[in-house]
Amino acid sequence: MKKKLALLMTGLLVTSMFAGCGKSTKNEVTDTNGVVESVDNNTESKELSADIVVIGAGGAGMTAAIQAAQDGATNVVVLEKMPITGGNTTRSTGGLNAAETKFQEAQGIEDSVELFIQDTMTGGKDLNDINLVTTLAQNSAAAVDWINGIGGDLAVVAMFGGASVERIHRPSDTSAVGPMLVNTLNKKMEELNIPVLTNTEATKINLDEAGKVASVTAKDADGEFTIDCKSVVLATGGFAGNIEMVTKYNAEYSKFMNTNHAGATGDGIVMAEAIGADLVDMDQIQIHPTVDMETQTLYTEGVRGNGAILVNLEGKRFVNELLTRDVVSAAILEQPEAYAYMVFDQKVRESLSAIEKYINSGLALEADTLEELADKMGVDKDSFVQTMTTYAEAVANGEDKECGRTSLDQDLTTSKFYALKSAPANHHTMGGVKIDTTAQVINKDGNAIPGLYAAGEVTGGVHGANRLGGNAVADIVVFGRIAGTSANEYVQANGGNTEATIVVEKEEAPATPEVDGNYKDGTYTGTGKGNGGDIVVEVKVEGGNVVAVTLTEVHETPGIYEAAEKSVVDAIIRTQSTDVDTVTGATNSSKGIMEAVANALEQAK
Ligand code: FUM
Repeated sequence: MKKKLALLMTGLLVTSMFAGCGKSTKNEVTDTNGVVESVDNNTESKELSADIVVIGAGGAGMTAAIQAAQDGATNVVVLEKMPITGGNTTRSTGGLNAAETKFQEAQGIEDSVELFIQDTMTGGKDLNDINLVTTLAQNSAAAVDWINGIGGDLAVVAMFGGASVERIHRPSDTSAVGPMLVNTLNKKMEELNIPVLTNTEATKINLDEAGKVASVTAKDADGEFTIDCKSVVLATGGFAGNIEMVTKYNAEYSKFMNTNHAGATGDGIVMAEAIGADLVDMDQIQIHPTVDMETQTLYTEGVRGNGAILVNLEGKRFVNELLTRDVVSAAILEQPEAYAYMVFDQKVRESLSAIEKYINSGLALEADTLEELADKMGVDKDSFVQTMTTYAEAVANGEDKECGRTSLDQDLTTSKFYALKSAPANHHTMGGVKIDTTAQVINKDGNAIPGLYAAGEVTGGVHGANRLGGNAVADIVVFGRIAGTSANEYVQANGGNTEATIVVEKEEAPATPEVDGNYKDGTYTGTGKGNGGDIVVEVKVEGGNVVAVTLTEVHETPGIYEAAEKSVVDAIIRTQSTDVDTVTGATNSSKGIMEAVANALEQAK
């Protein structure tokens, strides 16, 4: 059986072919477009093969695949059930916690691996596995260097909840860390020719009679198939997006909203448990304190880290905003109506470009004066102004008698003033598959499952009862790299590398109309509402048909909207209609593009 697979690599569609079990031969042929393709002569072959199968193309999975390839692995394949790569990493805003980095040193920040370990253990209420935490902290500075070494940008160090010192590393333009990371990882994967099979869901890890990893069962649009392999890296993320699993492991959390992407459904945990993996801390679920109640947009802790305070409906502060997430969330839930406003000024806005997305999306209340902001928030004016005055004095005196905050850099006195209505939502599942410091998955008898590794939120033990902001990105890079190295070492010790079996890259032809559009020829502009604000498009109609759609203004998350752009625009051109399917994982961007094109075409009727 020959199998053709559509692969998505950084927006470039490639068509390739797997050789069956390393037994088949390959020929190169030239198709009618002059594109060189590899064909599999072994039509009897029933299965596909790779040395390492990475399940999940989020930050941990892509890091593992890249590290394995850098270490010499030659036949790595990544399976991703979603249509796009990135997973929850794309949504990550805060940054990567690392201690003893050259960036901290340049800014005169005194930090140490020991202090990082101590903060992480305290934040996790000492439920964490100290060995995993030590590995995390010891390898964190190298993780920053590694990301920068493959083309990333982590250069600014800032404050985050639960950290004793400025430790979170983010891009030099202070933008969200996730899109930068995913773009960097996508590009490196492409450079290393590591294939990602999107829309391909792994359903089972199969062991041989000796209990070693032997293959992965997966399914795509064409049905179920098996990939023989020597090693698997499980990097499927957590389960906060799966309400049944949340309810099963801690029903108390089933009432909360959720900040996760649609693919965070815990599949890897279920697959690993089915082959005997031990699970740890499954009841430990984290709520993030500041999430928009309508859109479930997460307001990064960086806003508080850079100076914002929390104010309740009585116009008063009620907590040190930089305590750990569990403490701040619990404090918000105790306030009237169980929500609060995150309040900041123009200086804070200008210190963190991630804030622009909230403003562009129309989520922030903004005002020229504190009184006007109080009116917009619906809180008592006098009380709110008094709160802000007291806080400014606390900053001036360097002592916050009211709530005990120690990071007091911004007095919040520079107009304009802003408020983001915020409530807690499920954010991170600390529990998962048990691993050791080499990222090997441990079974219920305490032994490693040969060939099986895991990294990122699918694992448990690193974060204990409460994860510190910035430690998830540290986790995916540190343990992603370790998992990639360990999987490659295992392959070397068990027969060595085989030749890569995916050999062709081919750009997909541009879409052409399949029906008549019957529009008036011309170029039209339209606007729609995306996830990050307005999307403006230019629509070109020729011969009555839509032939091109160009996004001229876009504030969407890089790495997400491109997938929507390609798929939705192609579908609009093919069907000459704006009633097309949205792209899973990029639903709001898809809808925004469709709305913008529909508005433009109103002028073409
Ligand atoms: O608040 C945030 O930016 C989230 C960061 C994190 O979960 O690590």
